[in-house]
Amino acid sequence: MKDPITFLKLLKNTLTCLLGLAGLLLLITGILLPGLAQRPAKIPSASAASAPKKTESVRPQNQLWQPPKTDSIPKISEIELIRYGKELIAHTADYLGPKGTVMQISNGMNCQNCHLDAGTKIMGNNYAAVFSTYPKFRARSGTEETIIKRISDCFERSLNGTKPDSASKEMTAMIAYMKWLGKDTPKGIVPKGTGLEKLAYLDRAADPKNGQIIYKAKCESCHGVNGEGIPNPEKGSYIYPPLWGKNSYNDGAGLYRLSSFAGYVVNNMPFGASYENRLLTEKEAWDLAAFVNSQPRPHKDQKNDWVDLTKKPIDFPFAPYADEFTEKQHKLGPFKAIADAKKERK
Ligand code: HEC
Ligand code: HEC
Repeated sequence: MKDPITFLKLLKNTLTCLLGLAGLLLLITGILLPGLAQRPAKIPSASAASAPKKTESVRPQNQLWQPPKTDSIPKISEIELIRYGKELIAHTADYLGPKGTVMQISNGMNCQNCHLDAGTKIMGNNYAAVFSTYPKFRARSGTEETIIKRISDCFERSLNGTKPDSASKEMTAMIAYMKWLGKDTPKGIVPKGTGLEKLAYLDRAADPKNGQIIYKAKCESCHGVNGEGIPNPEKGSYIYPPLWGKNSYNDGAGLYRLSSFAGYVVNNMPFGASYENRLLTEKEAWDLAAFVNSQPRPHKDQKNDWVDLTKKPIDFPFAPYADEFTEKQHKLGPFKAIADAKKERK
């Protein structure tokens, strides 16, 4: 080392290098040590006790109290939400009807009027596949729909009302209930007996006149001469819900389509009927649908529905259509001819 300057430079470089290394070491221990500290405390063993202590500042942690993990807190609120959700489905009007105790946003009907036994009845429009199939694309809106959107639709159409806020306790509770109902349904699966039965089309048009005769004989006693139902005025709800008129579902609701109405009543009406024990023939169900859905009811603006006309259901009673059949035939049938023509186009 003849040149003192070169020597100093070398010394400086070595020092920087060492400092760098020390920094790196600190960084590594900084990352590793806290990780080590979080490892589950081990039961002290003789060897651990006799192991050489590193420094005096390392304090034993193994006997200290460990706070429980927050995710193990029982979700009582979830249970309450599910129960409240069921209550809202069964007695909607008590909470959300014209004299509702929480909000006044619907027409006095209950979700349960159409989703029987709080959405659990076989072919009674149950909710078995809601949680397993949503979000999903629906042709009516032409968008991917969430459960919130689907529930909102029934508020605005079937209950001819206003949707509750998507973040409200009520919306959250109904979803929690549907989630619970569908907890054993695997994702993407629609179990047998879900929703409404799709009936075979008649080879004639549905007949409102014949429907009226059956209505008088089998429905009027509960749903009234004018389809007005039997109200419970004190509560703003119904003992027997209306089938038409100002407090009924509007013309944008699912039941306004003949196939849905027929599928609903054939397995569920007169009250007491079931999938196992029908009280109507399918022909009677179609004719009843034609009669009831030819009566006056609230109107809903539907200009944004079914933008893709090829996806419009064949029994949707409002033009325009992707085919040449009349509005009347799309309302009352015969539907088989329309269905066959649709198949041929494909
Ligand atoms: C007037 C009858 C009626 C009432 C009242 C009604 N709905 Fe519906 N709802 C229907 C029909 C019809 C369908 C569509 C069934 C089908 O096409 O298979 C439906 C579908 C649904 C679906 C989608 C089911 C699925 O599997 O895709 C949900 C969720 C729903 N309704 C929630 C509600 C809620 C919540 C209420 C009360 C706020 C309510 N409905 C009130 C008739 C009704
Ligand atoms: C014994 C009384 C009774 C008779 C008879 C009866 N219903 Fe009902 N109907 C009910 C009740 C009760 C509900 C609501 C069910 C619930 O909330 O659990 C209902 C609901 C309905 C609904 C869905 C809700 C609505 O108001 O739109 C339709 C549609 C319906 N009935 C059609 C009919 C038809 C058609 C007949 C005749 C074949 C008929 N019902 C006979 C008692 C009756």
